[in-house]
Amino acid sequence: MNSTSRSRALLSPFELGGLNLKNRVVLAPMTRARAGASRLANALMAEYYAQRAGAGLLITEATVVSAQGIGYLGTPGIYTDEQGEAWQQVVEAVHAKGSPIFLQLWHCGRASHSSFHNGALPVAPSAVRLEGEGIHTPEGKQPHETPRALALEELPGIVADYVAAARRARDAGFDGVEIHAANGYLIDQFLQSRTNRREDAYGGSAAHRFRLLREIVEGINEIYPASRIGVRLAPNGIFNDMGSPDYRETFSHVAKQLDVYSLAYLHVVDGLAFGFHKLGEPMTLEDFRSLFHGPLMGNCGYDQESAEAAITRGAADLIAIGRPFISNPDLVERYRHGWPLAPDSDPTTWYSGEQTREGYTDYPDYKLSTVVGAEEEA
Ligand SMILES: Cc1cc2nc3c(=O)[nH]c(=O)nc-3n(C[C@H](O)[C@H](O)[C@H](O)COP(=O)(O)O)c2cc1C
Repeated sequence: MNSTSRSRALLSPFELGGLNLKNRVVLAPMTRARAGASRLANALMAEYYAQRAGAGLLITEATVVSAQGIGYLGTPGIYTDEQGEAWQQVVEAVHAKGSPIFLQLWHCGRASHSSFHNGALPVAPSAVRLEGEGIHTPEGKQPHETPRALALEELPGIVADYVAAARRARDAGFDGVEIHAANGYLIDQFLQSRTNRREDAYGGSAAHRFRLLREIVEGINEIYPASRIGVRLAPNGIFNDMGSPDYRETFSHVAKQLDVYSLAYLHVVDGLAFGFHKLGEPMTLEDFRSLFHGPLMGNCGYDQESAEAAITRGAADLIAIGRPFISNPDLVERYRHGWPLAPDSDPTTWYSGEQTREGYTDYPDYKLSTVVGAEEEA
């Protein structure tokens, strides 16, 4: 079997919200922390994304919707007009290569530290501390703090921050946005009973815990049509100290509720390669297929073969690939031709905080690496 027949489904086109994706491979959202202290997208980032525009769809790294949402050094923002405008160069570079790009909208919630906020505590649905190894802050690695529970009156402001960010994303030319409701950040903290102990209309039942996400989806829907809004969920994950005993009930409810909006897609981190809470059987793409009838995107631990299999058996329409894309900017071409993959990237180069090329834009395409390799041998 040649490599093209190995990837007949994965490399086939897909129509998403009126966009023609040239294949079903999606660049997974990945924080690379190259935006510097200003949190402005820059030319180096434009080069990085353009290098990976062989993907049918690109999702940017998580991008904070407010200063309050910050939790990492060097990650980009979209809470000022200047930040919004800085993203234009990224959008243009990717569009020039013929692929659409969605911006991932982010608020870290409790996964942050007071040293990012002039001494004010990070915010969360409830005052429940993230138990973990600590957090990298402007003042070095520090233990997590107990966050401040958001007051009911503050929640409309959070929704407004997402809506304003989406407006700037649209003005910058993004084809759509992905709402980051996964991996233990603010929205996931609201969704899950482990972190949401509220007794008001935003806590308690799964329906109440879903309320913030619902309001964010509906708010953004005034900026983008639903067919250009994606939502990312992580029902099985433990990242940022997550995992709730009622995960199945919660995420089934969320998927069913999201189904009514005709969203661009539901993005489910279904794989267990980033950790599994082991509170029951993992939720699968098949579980979500029966609850959500729009386009479904899987992610986590997929390779060419398993991605092809998931699409062929009808479990997913799209597969997001993360880590392999770091050291293989031309990943889709490698899949297409059956070329070998580059060695895994070095995790110490994943997050930089500064505009460093190393481990970011210095991975060659396969063709280039073979030409250079041949020259070196000669
Ligand atoms: C360096 C790095 C940064 C990441 N940043 C984000 C992010 O900003 N937003 C997000 O939703 N997931 C983020 N993730 C998770 C990835 O999107 C993806 O779920 C994970 O890498 C598993 O997929 P993979 O096995 O294809 O790498 C990140 C992962 C890595 C390795």
